[in-house]
Amino acid sequence: MTDPQRQASTPSGRATDQGNAAPPTDVGAMFDRISGVYDVMNAIISGFQEPRWRRRAVLAAGVGVGDSVIDVATGTGKVAASLRDQVGSSGRVLGVDLAPRMIQRARRTYADRAGLEFVVGNAMELPADDSAFDAATIAFGMRNLPDYGLGFAEMRRVVRPGGRVVCLEIARPNHLIARLARIWFERIVPWIGRLAGQGDAYGYLVESVRNYPGPERMAEVMREAGLVDVNWTPMTLGMVTIHVGRRPPG
Ligand SMILES: C[S@@+](CC[C@H](N)C(=O)[O-])C[C@H]1O[C@@H](n2cnc3c(N)ncnc32)[C@H](O)[C@@H]1O
Repeated sequence: MTDPQRQASTPSGRATDQGNAAPPTDVGAMFDRISGVYDVMNAIISGFQEPRWRRRAVLAAGVGVGDSVIDVATGTGKVAASLRDQVGSSGRVLGVDLAPRMIQRARRTYADRAGLEFVVGNAMELPADDSAFDAATIAFGMRNLPDYGLGFAEMRRVVRPGGRVVCLEIARPNHLIARLARIWFERIVPWIGRLAGQGDAYGYLVESVRNYPGPERMAEVMREAGLVDVNWTPMTLGMVTIHVGRRPPG
């Protein structure tokens, strides 16, 4: 059964330099609503590039057998599952997401993987102790947070000194091919979203990407949040970027 209150709330994707203007409860409710079509839509929207992007983000976390990782805004758990393959059954991966239905799907899909857990929680106040993990990742989640700086500060808090913080996110490059790709993203994607019965949600997606700060600014936000050795790598003509930073050692 659909909860009518949840049905009613479609957030605006407006953002400032600091964060997404939409209240987290509205964002969570929207992702709950689209949880059933989320994976299929992602594959289409990304031109089937997302497994490659996620893989690069997982490798950027630099974790190995026996390590522990937190995947923030984990959604249906794809990055978390791939991290779990990296750390093996002696490691630990915790996926956290605001939307209970996303978490439900993740749990159902990966029920058989020891060492992989999913919990409902807010990236603004991660349900984890200080220094509990070797690394933290967030994929396509940062742009949804009301405070990017706090998002990175929380990830920094829960990784051990020297541990990595990785952020994979959609970007808006300016060169010609990218501008053509933008037509796909800003015109065709909302239309596909409408066909899937989720026009508002995919309108939100476009708006949230349009308002997300550029890679240089996000690197600054990471430094302001106390991360060091911050660098970023553009992929697929700069359509997505992977930012990596580290909690200062010692
Ligand atoms: C675009 S999806 C990305 C999901 C997944 N990481 C992936 O790679 O497919 C964004 C996710 O962020 C979650 N989210 C948004 N705001 C959040 C917050 N404040 N705390 C935790 N999760 C949040 C949403 O519920 C949604 O599942």
